[in-house]
Amino acid sequence: MNNRAGALILVLLFHLLHSSEARQPNVVFVLADDYGYNDIGYHGSEIKTPTLDELAAGGVKLENYYVQPICTPTRSQLMSGRYQIHTGLQHGIIWPEQPNGLPLNSPTLADKMKESGYSTHMVGKWHLGFYKKEYLPWNRGFDTYFGYLTGSEDYYTHLREFGASSKFYLDLHNERGPVKNESGHYSAHLFTQKAIDVINSHKDSKPLFLYMAYQSVHGPLQVPDKYLKQYEHIEDETRRTYADNGGKPIKGGNNFPLRGEKGTLWDGGLHGVGFVAGGALSRERSGKVTTALIHVSDWYPTLVRLAGGHFNGCLPLDGVDQWDTISKGSPSKRLMLLHNIDPLYKKSGAPLYADKFDTSIRAAMRSGSYKLITGDPGPGKWTPPPSTQNQQYNTSLYFCEEPSDVKNVWLFNITADPTEHHDLSEERPQVVRIMLDLLSKMNATSVPVRYPPFDPKSNPALHGNIWGPWE
Ligand SMILES: *[C@@H]1O[C@H](CO)[C@@H](O)[C@H](O)[C@H]1NC(C)=O
Ligand SMILES: *[C@@H]1O[C@H](CO)[C@@H](O)[C@H](O)[C@H]1NC(C)=O
Ligand SMILES: *[C@@H]1O[C@H](CO)[C@@H](O)[C@H](O)[C@H]1NC(C)=O
Ligand SMILES: *[C@@H]1O[C@H](CO)[C@@H](O)[C@H](O)[C@H]1NC(C)=O
Repeated sequence: MNNRAGALILVLLFHLLHSSEARQPNVVFVLADDYGYNDIGYHGSEIKTPTLDELAAGGVKLENYYVQPICTPTRSQLMSGRYQIHTGLQHGIIWPEQPNGLPLNSPTLADKMKESGYSTHMVGKWHLGFYKKEYLPWNRGFDTYFGYLTGSEDYYTHLREFGASSKFYLDLHNERGPVKNESGHYSAHLFTQKAIDVINSHKDSKPLFLYMAYQSVHGPLQVPDKYLKQYEHIEDETRRTYADNGGKPIKGGNNFPLRGEKGTLWDGGLHGVGFVAGGALSRERSGKVTTALIHVSDWYPTLVRLAGGHFNGCLPLDGVDQWDTISKGSPSKRLMLLHNIDPLYKKSGAPLYADKFDTSIRAAMRSGSYKLITGDPGPGKWTPPPSTQNQQYNTSLYFCEEPSDVKNVWLFNITADPTEHHDLSEERPQVVRIMLDLLSKMNATSVPVRYPPFDPKSNPALHGNIWGPWE
């Protein structure tokens, strides 16, 4: 999932059935950051991912799988099962200087897994707020934690800049406090080691839930030299570094053949890479590919059901249980998908209709095969194929005029046109009107955006030179 939050690669592994009679599988959920649609071997990439390819080949590949275009939004929906319009996190990410977090009014996925009897662990990038102790991952359902509370740390020093101060502070923690002795340890290796430790020290008396959120392949692009060697043939240095390191082309990712990139509402920012593998799937599902529509908010109900849990205490979920779709190939119960409505994003053009959803606002949704985009979706260039492959494509097709400031409505049939080349909005105004009404209906359920100003008290210099709660 290049740059979808670009593209994140979401890998789910269900290991052997847990031995107790309650048939609760162990769950390892792996998320990679900014992973491009064309950055996994089995999508034809020049980037080699043999382990992931092999795991995916033995499991079920999710080929119509959607995430959110940037970090916090994807993670917030994974942990809450709820759209951004229902958590107040419609706009941007949670900056480390903001007093903000995933609201405490509904349990997290980890809370529910724990309540279902799981031993719960997280390794990696949280990015769902930490300004008060209550928002820390180990106070939100995880028994243990090891990782970064915010984003954009240095892969080796684990330091993160405060504002634009050129001052960098430690952001590596476990549930007992800051971790000060791992400078120089490359985060992908460090997090992998910690995940292995969690698995090795796991006692079989309880099933395991491990959420593994790699920093890779998000910027800054840093990689040990030994990994660069195998990609000497890649001319573009950022991509060479990224190769071992989604889809943000200027940061090395590639979403070919999709349109748009990280941070946009084009499918290049949303359409992710995902698969499910492991012993909780029957033999017959091995090697299957599903084109059922699945979204990152769906993991919450899917995994809680698999854990034998319940939804008491949850605010209404937007995710739908996809376990029958994944494990049996049943049709997806998801008919609609709200990508987002962001009332704070800069408006674009004039409303198309006075009495309908204001099309100057940035929003996008799916209803069946139809996708409607309003407002400014962000840069809409098609991703050119990486230089070393796909020479048969006519590359002039992959560069386009940027949308004008005036145009603010697009309609696509994503099934027929996954690369968003053929705008149907003028041909099918009735469909546009119906979908604008659906957007209005969903918007009416939205909560106010939480996007507070930076708080000077967040400065780590005021609390031991470490990023952490300040309220
Ligand atoms: C850092 O300290 C922890 C806790 O004492 C220890 O387990 C870990 O091995 C140490 N790491 C290094 C690189 O020394
Ligand atoms: C969306 O809903 C919010 C909250 O109810 C409201 O303030 C806003 O005007 C609505 N926007 C549109 C475009 O309907
Ligand atoms: C490539 O696509 C462009 C734009 O559609 C077209 O004008 C051109 O003729 C195509 N070139 C080839 C070699 O097919
Ligand atoms: C969208 O495209 C698919 C594939 O071509 C087609 O089967 C379907 O009927 C189209 N949907 C609509 C609503 O036009």
